[in-house]
Amino acid sequence: MKRRSFLALMAGGAAAASAGLLGQHWLSRAGQVSPVMSQPVVRSSQGALMLDLVAQETRVTIPGTAGRALTYNGLLPGPVLEVNAGDDVKIQLHNRLNQPTNLHYHGLHVSPEGNADNVFLSVQPGASQSYSFQIPDDHPAGLFYYHPHHHGTVSDQVFGGLGGALIVRGELDQIPEVQAAQEKVLFLKDLPADRQPGMGGAMLGREGSVLTVNGQVNPTIETPAGGLLRLRLVNGSNARFWRLALEGHRLHLIATDGGALEQPLAIQDLLLVPGARADVLVQISPTGGQFRLRNRSYNRVGRRMMGMRRMVASSQGEETIATIQTHGTTTPVALPRELLPIQPLNNPVRTRRFVMNHGMAPGMGMMFLINGQPYDHQRIDTRVRLGDIEEWDLVNTGVMDHPFHVHVNPMQVISRNGEPERLLAWRDVVLVRAGETVRVRTQFRDFSGRSVYHCHILDHEDLGMMGNLLIEA
Ligand code: C2O
Ligand code: CU
Ligand code: CU
Repeated sequence: MKRRSFLALMAGGAAAASAGLLGQHWLSRAGQVSPVMSQPVVRSSQGALMLDLVAQETRVTIPGTAGRALTYNGLLPGPVLEVNAGDDVKIQLHNRLNQPTNLHYHGLHVSPEGNADNVFLSVQPGASQSYSFQIPDDHPAGLFYYHPHHHGTVSDQVFGGLGGALIVRGELDQIPEVQAAQEKVLFLKDLPADRQPGMGGAMLGREGSVLTVNGQVNPTIETPAGGLLRLRLVNGSNARFWRLALEGHRLHLIATDGGALEQPLAIQDLLLVPGARADVLVQISPTGGQFRLRNRSYNRVGRRMMGMRRMVASSQGEETIATIQTHGTTTPVALPRELLPIQPLNNPVRTRRFVMNHGMAPGMGMMFLINGQPYDHQRIDTRVRLGDIEEWDLVNTGVMDHPFHVHVNPMQVISRNGEPERLLAWRDVVLVRAGETVRVRTQFRDFSGRSVYHCHILDHEDLGMMGNLLIEA
């Protein structure tokens, strides 16, 4: 992309962001002013998404924070990127941080090699890197997540603010009821408060106590009464688990990480672990009003560790993270009955076991381990054959939950502690609770090469809970 369009994007983005922060406001019942939610979007045109992303430290005006964050193009979160299946993606990443970085396209089914979704690239301070890959023609529609992935600095950079949503359009978006819904992307991120006492530290996974939705504190989401609202949620946090419920409404889950479910699933609340995404439909009350989107507490530290649990912010209290405010009315739209078929994966050719825990690593002190070992760049931990279906037992013998993530290909959960999983869904982050064994299946489709699996509590990943996966043709 040429300099001109890059500058246009920067200017457009900054304008959109400040419109959100300084422009229209709603006066909530309690009398505080909350911003109307904003979300700068960059769409592909003529089959290509082209943009520059500048990673830098920026001044931000988010109430309660220290006023500085790591951003892409000065925006927190980074712009929403939107493509169609089959499109080319060409991104120039410019590193203006004081440490190496790179980019990962979390959840996308693309090559992990060359200058595609290659997390082994190291972009030094002051340097740039061009990324170029094609979204396959048959790529499922869904919500994905770009973020830095340079081992050793991932958690600092994500906790510092870097990350953004990436939408792939397709079949799911064309289901008439889904198409009729008003769509909002909600990028969830917790930021450290200006003077935040004890963030728990890297062992527990750092959580910030300022909860933001699209970089805003309790923004207002405007939508007509009686209408269908499609909330598309990304957990862009370093370690925080979000557990969302909407006052007076049920949520209807229509998509997980890897795209559509077969039918909507009614849920009371939605648990979203770091790196996970979900789409929910909400039938907004025809009488209208103001409804709080609440984040409920969740204990990700086991009962055996009550002392530690108190240090984890998300295990305390309940907070409003956004407010839905109706504005006008619209004719009600029914929920879709059917979404898209999901093919269950066939019998695996082999089974493997991944045991997650922390422990002492020789010469390294306390580390997070998979099968007893901390991450080593040089070592291939898991060698698989392209095309194979495998079953993996994810075993958590530790005292905290670990969300297990794998690159390139999504997984289907088969069972949890031997209990068959009823929901057939594509996931790329699977929660494995303390003491739990989760059995998943995956197929290594289309792309060979080296990539990784890891805990998506990114502090744990940086502290060793990652392995190298080699897919051989
Ligand atoms: Cu979202 Cu390997 O990461
Ligand atoms: Cu990923
Ligand atoms: Cu972990």
